[in-house]
Amino acid sequence: MTSERLIVVASKQNNPVLCCMNEAEKNILGLHLPTDPRWVNLAAISLEEILTDHAYCEQKAATSCISLIQRYPDKEAMVNALAPIVTEEWGHFRLVLQELRKRNLHLGKQRKDEYVNKLLQFEIKGGREDDRLLDKLLIFALIEARSCERFKRLSEGLDDDYLRNFYRRFMESEAGHYVTFIELAETYVDKEKVRKRWQEWLAYEAGVIQHLEMRGDRMH
Ligand SMILES: [Fe+2]
Ligand SMILES: [Fe+2]
Repeated sequence: MTSERLIVVASKQNNPVLCCMNEAEKNILGLHLPTDPRWVNLAAISLEEILTDHAYCEQKAATSCISLIQRYPDKEAMVNALAPIVTEEWGHFRLVLQELRKRNLHLGKQRKDEYVNKLLQFEIKGGREDDRLLDKLLIFALIEARSCERFKRLSEGLDDDYLRNFYRRFMESEAGHYVTFIELAETYVDKEKVRKRWQEWLAYEAGVIQHLEMRGDRMH
């Protein structure tokens, strides 16, 4: 999927949040700061570590969706949308695990996720329930968007044809999840409010990326 196609996918239904991304065609899914291209070279030389980190990102995506279902069982549209994503994310975990095994590499230990921890610092903790739900959904959307961007870099920048295709599949899937989370936010919260808060999150996330050490053994 090209970046143009990603933008088309993401801007379906004249979505006011997603349409803003047309102004940001230089970056994927509206992200303000593109990944430093040198990251792909670092990742290429730390395959066992990057696959391990990727596997845990998929595991966390699956378990976080389960937590959201447990927290909001009454939000039927959300439960229905998230249930298949849990299966997909766990399927991703298994694909990455298979790739490690095939190469005689090992699933290492889970690391501290500095990127996600920094994002969580910006999350609204108190106040209105729908504001809290909005932030949770936008954090999910943001992690999907950044993951998608990283997979795109790998799918275009690695020398190995097989790995380029391997990462392209993840890129497409995470782009779809990103759209789902934005749409869910707009199902439960006023669209203008979603748009405004999304812009705040994009600006905050760019600051997080800018200050994180660039490491080839981490997806983020
Ligand atoms: Fe995934
Ligand atoms: Fe995902």
